Amino acid sequence: MTFLELKDLRIHFPTDDGLVKSVDGLSFTLERGKTLGIVGESGSGKSVTSLGVLGLHKGGRAKISGEIWLDGEELVGASAEHVRKLRGKKMAMIFQDPLSAMHPYYTVGNQIIEAYRIHHDVSKKVARKHAIDMLARVGIPQPDRRVDSYPHEFSGGMRQRAMIAMALCCDPELLIADEPTTALDVTVQAQILDLMRDLQRDFNAALIIITHDLGVVAELSDDILVMYGGKCIEYGSAEDIFERPEHPYTWGLLGSMPRLDREPTERLLPIKGSPPSLINVPSGCAFHPRCPYAERTAGRSETEVPELLETAGGHRVRCHLPGERRRAIWEKEVMPNLEGTS
Ligand SMILES: Nc1ncnc2c1ncn2[C@@H]1O[C@H](COP(=O)(O)OP(=O)(O)O)[C@@H](O)[C@H]1O
Ligand code: SF4
Ligand SMILES: [Mg+2]
Repeated sequence: MTFLELKDLRIHFPTDDGLVKSVDGLSFTLERGKTLGIVGESGSGKSVTSLGVLGLHKGGRAKISGEIWLDGEELVGASAEHVRKLRGKKMAMIFQDPLSAMHPYYTVGNQIIEAYRIHHDVSKKVARKHAIDMLARVGIPQPDRRVDSYPHEFSGGMRQRAMIAMALCCDPELLIADEPTTALDVTVQAQILDLMRDLQRDFNAALIIITHDLGVVAELSDDILVMYGGKCIEYGSAEDIFERPEHPYTWGLLGSMPRLDREPTERLLPIKGSPPSLINVPSGCAFHPRCPYAERTAGRSETEVPELLETAGGHRVRCHLPGERRRAIWEKEVMPNLEGTS
């Protein structure tokens, strides 16, 4: 059964410079117990999407259309008050920047206690015990003492863990983790990904992991959605994305992925150029100024927006190259090069 479904979600911001189309027609589904990885370079609309699901653009200047269905309820049309009540227990988010999620004037413990008591009718004492347990679970040393610290008394990594404790304290049914590991060292990264896996195993939670690094989601994801310029450009099972990727941008992400079997000194193959402006999105395929294969589509890449089309078994790709051409390029030109660098 589908637990979360986005249908043609659009989140646009009117600004003095023009309309920023941060999310421009995004659709996907997610079941309980499953993990979706959303991958793309900085500025592709990943964070705006997750804030949108949590209802955090409501009341702001964002123009939102489309549908967000969570466990049978539509949230785009729901009131801000109603969606607020769903946060914590029904859905929670680990934010990219812990300071933005924590109140500076309350102790870390009080913030977890308050979040817990919104959804659980328990005494302060019981909630405090739970807060200490949560801090211990995310690997904060001396949790019975640190529970009374303020966010600024924590180091960056500890603050990140405390925020994760806050997000996990009500065992959310949907957890969105927005670049949860970017600021952390490798050991802590692994611990945090383990915690999310525990949540999924113990509570059959649905997970969305957002990252700019395909390597982070390789092992964890059931499905992967690749975003570029506010749109989905490839969507499929993790196996589709790693074994038979079809979009030139995905090939670029694979080439720039740090890998354990590569020497750290070996040069990665970054994608040339920079991500598009979301105000003046390039005509046709938004990736065309950076795409090495654009000239092989008889001008269509520059003029026509490609549709997201299914190639096989739910694998979807937005590219004008015919399927056999893409597969031939992947097998003969791209894959051998990737292997050559590993
Ligand atoms: N409140 C806002 N007002 C105007 N533009 C915004 C706002 N929030 C985000 N954007 C723009 O939307 C685009 C996508 O941002 P974001 O979702 O944060 O990217 P990502 O998380 O993929 O790095 C960026 O161009 C960003 O500048
Ligand atoms: S549509 Fe054209 S520019 Fe876009 S990814 Fe495909 S080949 Fe490249
Ligand atoms: Mg972001």
